[in-house]
Amino acid sequence: SGRIFKEGAALPNIRDMIRQNQCGDTEAWRLLHKHKQQIAGLRLSDAFEKDPGRAQKFSLELQDLFVDFSKNLITDETRSLLLKLAEERELEKKIRELFAGGKVNKTEDRPALHTLLRAPEDYSLEHDGVDLSRQAQDELGRMFAVVEALRAGQLKGAAGETISKVVNIGIGGSDVGPRLLSEALGEFRNGNIEVEFVANMDPFDIEQVLARSTPNATLFVIVSKSFATPETLANANRAKTWLLRHACADPGKHFIAISENQDAARQFGVGEQRFFKIWDWVGGRYSVWSCAGLTAAAALGVDNFKRFLAGAHAVDRHFHAAELDKNIPVILGLIGIWHNNFFGLGGHAVVPYDQKLRSLPAYLNQLIMESNGKSVTAAGAAAGVNTTPIIWGGVGSNAQHAFFQFLHQGPRATSLDFLLPLTSRHDAGQHELLAANCLAQGEALMRGRANPDEPHRRFEGNRPSTTILYNRLDPHTLGMLLAIYEHKTFVEAVIWGINPFDQWGVELGKELAGQIAGELAAGQAVGSSHDASTASLMNKYLAERRRRGQ
Ligand code: F6P
Repeated sequence: SGRIFKEGAALPNIRDMIRQNQCGDTEAWRLLHKHKQQIAGLRLSDAFEKDPGRAQKFSLELQDLFVDFSKNLITDETRSLLLKLAEERELEKKIRELFAGGKVNKTEDRPALHTLLRAPEDYSLEHDGVDLSRQAQDELGRMFAVVEALRAGQLKGAAGETISKVVNIGIGGSDVGPRLLSEALGEFRNGNIEVEFVANMDPFDIEQVLARSTPNATLFVIVSKSFATPETLANANRAKTWLLRHACADPGKHFIAISENQDAARQFGVGEQRFFKIWDWVGGRYSVWSCAGLTAAAALGVDNFKRFLAGAHAVDRHFHAAELDKNIPVILGLIGIWHNNFFGLGGHAVVPYDQKLRSLPAYLNQLIMESNGKSVTAAGAAAGVNTTPIIWGGVGSNAQHAFFQFLHQGPRATSLDFLLPLTSRHDAGQHELLAANCLAQGEALMRGRANPDEPHRRFEGNRPSTTILYNRLDPHTLGMLLAIYEHKTFVEAVIWGINPFDQWGVELGKELAGQIAGELAAGQAVGSSHDASTASLMNKYLAERRRRGQ
């Protein structure tokens, strides 16, 4: 609490706290509740029949992206009331504050300026007397130079061998972003650099990668904002031991570090030339745009990485300038609030019909749930409403043969995002079948099918979805898509009054893991400090270890 309330200050009255800055206290919230009752019988199929302009009216376009949100449970009045809610929650002001470097991350007293990393070179933003845009550009420039040297075969290992493989070691935001980027843009990979990713504490992860790597030709890129994350340190140390075991004379030549914590990186053995800075104003899950994207840039090349940044910047400009009712992240965020808080939909599935985006749901798990999985407002009061739904999903059409049964006939409705590229460089006929499947699912979920005689064949329908079309997944489009989801997350956080940029919820488990690791190493569970279940599980683990004589 010392972080949120000043030390020694009288704590606010609990009732005042609960009523502090809650979205549920706005007039729009009350009107939306009333409106929800008024449209209780809304059938989307009827709405389309009654209003031939519905699809067009509830669609937005930005460059290559076409967003159709007409299959959601909304009417004209819903949109107006949601926009009124945005006004009451001062969304426009909050957006301006985000871009201007206001300290929007209140519990950590810092701005969230990932947008700066993808701004053009002539963009300028000063903060506390420091030109942050210059800092960002300079650091990215250094990173691009190393990537170019690497791709030109100029980076040598300790034995003089050319580096031909990059292994990214990081977890969470230091992993999912560059991993998604390299995977999704596989078609754009060029050059001779092979890239791999290691994240898990499970040693199986790194061992598999080491087994297929050549020590003299491998570069490890340690991405860790804190340089204190146990998984990353364990894997980085294992990589170092592996190099030494293979008689590497100078392991430092096989590491690059991307972090805020230069001292720790230096202690690990990474010199200044091989160190790239990220700052406290870049959150881990918003860091793919920074030097944390190095491994992806190594695979894709600097130009493609710049195109990715430019795509995100195009969305930043749109988010900053477009009127709220034409603003894609704003509309998607408000619809998210509507389904979640007024219809009680506790899950939101993301289903790209694009094999290249198969890891997008995992990326969004972190981006959205680590950002908005909170119960307390930025001011420390109870949020008073549900915050993020569970974000999940999978690639179409595979997902149709997994969880679509649940989506169509399960008792709990879920909202969805479908993503579909209009073209494919492969067999156009087969791609067309893929497109047909995507479009059919959105229509089927919405339309449903009455079947009074055979209840097991009945589809309730009226299940909401948004469809995002794009021409082809290229670096620019991927940048746009990720920035849309980032800003949608921000919009929802503003409405709920929570801080999307901290993640205190990961701390308790980390602390206990440290304690339990110490006890396991010492060979005994300290019974009294654990509940009976945890103590007995630890004892089982230790008994097995003893049995194996370890
Ligand atoms: O899961 C908590 C978290 O702090 C994430 O926010 C972050 O992306 C990840 O751990 C890794 O942290 P770091 O980059 O400091 O190693």
